[in-house]
Amino acid sequence: MLDLNNITLHYGHSQILKGISMQAQLGEVTCVMGCNGVGKTSLMKAITGTHARSGGTVSLDGEILGVLPAHALAQKGIAYVPQGRDIFPLLTVKENLETGFSCLPASEHHIPDQVFELFPVLKDMITRRGGDLSGGQQQQLAIARALITRPKLLVLDEPTEGIQPNIITQIGEVISLLRDQGEMAIVLVEQYFDFAYALADRFVVLRRGEVVLAGRKGELARDDLLEGVSV
Ligand SMILES: Nc1ncnc2c1ncn2[C@@H]1O[C@H](COP(=O)(O)OP(=O)(O)OP(=O)(O)O)[C@@H](O)[C@H]1O
Ligand SMILES: [Mg+2]
Repeated sequence: MLDLNNITLHYGHSQILKGISMQAQLGEVTCVMGCNGVGKTSLMKAITGTHARSGGTVSLDGEILGVLPAHALAQKGIAYVPQGRDIFPLLTVKENLETGFSCLPASEHHIPDQVFELFPVLKDMITRRGGDLSGGQQQQLAIARALITRPKLLVLDEPTEGIQPNIITQIGEVISLLRDQGEMAIVLVEQYFDFAYALADRFVVLRRGEVVLAGRKGELARDDLLEGVSV
């Protein structure tokens, strides 16, 4: 579904990604791991168009994509749940979800029942302001908002960061269910090792903007992965 080849990214003169290649397949969770500051979020920005890559090629579902802005990539089926959630605090839960409509044709401007089946709490809180939700509820809202866009590729950046354990479990169940439905590829950035290891089908470990370890779960030793993410 997603194929990245030799992606580079700069902030001004400083080069952060130094030629990253990776793939993410339909019906699989590909987990991007690595310590703080290695470039995980920058890679997600390059994939989602929130910061333009400076080099390399990206293809989605067989189509080679130019360097496109985020809204154009959202229309092509790339949905982004950013680190820190970035929900709209002054909009209601319903309005936050409806922001996902902007990349859909008018005939699809409705909230699918599945969103409330996955996150019943959002139905209970539909008229509340986003900013009044707990951190965990906001994370669920951010994932739901991404699902509204009917993505082919779902990118989640540290969805467990700062979230209470029972909601982490629920989020893990939702990711696993979405994977098993087989209609999207999922790229998950995660530093919570046990959560990532339980969910992922493939791993990509970054260090200083480069891939240092990559492979399917069965091909990599758990200890090698742990060592890879702790240096
Ligand atoms: N907008 C920016 N301008 C300049 N430098 C940036 C910017 N955003 C990130 N950086 C730098 O790029 C490097 C990679 O940051 P990035 O946020 O991609 O890392 P990360 O792996 O997601 O870290 P974390 O685990 O803390 O979320 C860091 O050195 C960071 O300071
Ligand atoms: Mg980050």
